[in-house]
Amino acid sequence: MKKILHVISSLNGQNSYSMALGNKILEQLKKENPDSEVVERNLVAEDFPHITADKWQAIITPEENRTEAQRETIAFQDEVIQELLDADILVIGAPLYNFGIPSQLKAWIDHLAKSGVTFKYTEEGPQGLVSGKKVYIAMSSGGVYSENPAYDFVSDYLIKVLGFLGMTDVELIRVEGIAIPELRDEALNKAEKQLATSLA
Ligand SMILES: Cc1cc2nc3c(=O)[nH]c(=O)nc-3n(C[C@H](O)[C@H](O)[C@H](O)COP(=O)(O)O)c2cc1C
Repeated sequence: MKKILHVISSLNGQNSYSMALGNKILEQLKKENPDSEVVERNLVAEDFPHITADKWQAIITPEENRTEAQRETIAFQDEVIQELLDADILVIGAPLYNFGIPSQLKAWIDHLAKSGVTFKYTEEGPQGLVSGKKVYIAMSSGGVYSENPAYDFVSDYLIKVLGFLGMTDVELIRVEGIAIPELRDEALNKAEKQLATSLA
């Protein structure tokens, strides 16, 4: 049985294009893996926490010296990491906001990148410890960045940071041109066609 983790980071609730594309990817994956189980983490709906100064203190304080509140911070981080480790496939909804990823998605990544757990430093340089996952990025944007990547700080960043953690099998599918009336209506269909070739 495949475990699929669907990460949502849109501010647009049910009107989100990245979530709609993520759901299309899930539909295809479920056809291929009928007994798969999907876990959804909606970072915006749950108001996913940023790593504040207090939380950072919890992370760098040795286990035996942590306060109760610090232990809770670490327990939450462990849960988020375990959810990632348990998944065989990830579907990450990634809207482009002000040329980058939503801050909630960055906060999720900040929780995941834990030295000694999801990556480690070796004499040959950093080594990702999260291996064997297939990742689909469902990227959405108001403009068309596939043709003008200079201001797209989503795709390159996500592919690099996921790779740093060991996730190198990454497929990025774009629903783009949402802010351009003549492209908006066809944007999701176009993404679905790209999806058909990616999953073929
Ligand atoms: C806060 C915010 C910032 C945005 N910044 C950009 C931008 O810099 N460039 C762009 O092309 N579209 C921008 N957009 C438009 C979104 O990329 C577009 O609405 C996309 O569909 C968002 O994905 P979602 O529908 O899953 O939320 C922005 C939207 C929001 C809400």
